[in-house]
Amino acid sequence: MSASNTDFVLAVEGLTVSFDGFKAVNDLSFYVDKDEIRVIVGPNGAGKTTVLDLICGRTKSTEGSIKFRNKELTKMKEHQIVRAGVGRKFQTPSIYGDLTVFENLEISFPRGRSVFGALAFKRDAEVLNRVSEVADMIFLSDLLESRADLLSHGQKQWLEIGMLLIQDPELLMLDEPVAGMSVSERRQTAELLRRITKDRSVIVIEHDMQFVAEIADKVTVLHQGKILAEGSAEEVKADPKVIEVYLGH
Ligand SMILES: Nc1ncnc2c1ncn2[C@@H]1O[C@H](COP(=O)(O)OP(=O)(O)OP(=O)(O)O)[C@@H](O)[C@H]1O
Ligand SMILES: [Mg+2]
Repeated sequence: MSASNTDFVLAVEGLTVSFDGFKAVNDLSFYVDKDEIRVIVGPNGAGKTTVLDLICGRTKSTEGSIKFRNKELTKMKEHQIVRAGVGRKFQTPSIYGDLTVFENLEISFPRGRSVFGALAFKRDAEVLNRVSEVADMIFLSDLLESRADLLSHGQKQWLEIGMLLIQDPELLMLDEPVAGMSVSERRQTAELLRRITKDRSVIVIEHDMQFVAEIADKVTVLHQGKILAEGSAEEVKADPKVIEVYLGH
């Protein structure tokens, strides 16, 4: 049986992108399970962010396929990929500083067709419920009325994760979510990630190996656009190739 016949949420096969002849991602294949937290690590320039760019449709691949459920993402536009259930957080935050936490979450709720009367009322209740559920998950229940620009760096990162969670993506991708966070914020973020993978898969790019070991079901080590090693955090940490190119300096 070929790997692509199993029920992976995401199957990346033979993925390559060439920028003026330079292959930032080079014949890459990996598979992400349902409810899995996959962490991608690797030295600067390894191609980690480019992999997320390819999955979310921001960058077009030169070769290869990306199957999410039964959909071929390489043939879809960025907004179609979002609608198919893929959410992505970028390295730089994109919250609205002059809006409250509540408003930031509310505006991120996916808009359906416009509705009227009793239906609109029902929808308002649905939005309120979802906002409060997500605010709880991201530790911001007590700060719903605070302006977003007054939050700490870590709280802003959580809010941004919340803005993605509101849309209930089946696959969530986070690029270095704990960069610049305090130790206690990191611990809370690990807890947050465990909570949100109950019914979704998450791909996280991360450098902090202690944090990686805390959250990862499986780690993929990238180097020069290819997989150098893959396995549990323990396995990759002990891998001589990984120590040589990534951990050992
Ligand atoms: N749009 C682009 N055009 C040309 N080169 C690019 C483009 N995007 C990325 N690259 C190059 O591809 C390589 C991989 O970059 P990428 O940002 O994916 O690395 P990374 O693993 O995320 O690194 P870091 O840990 O520093 O974030 C780098 O050499 C980068 O300069
Ligand atoms: Mg990067």
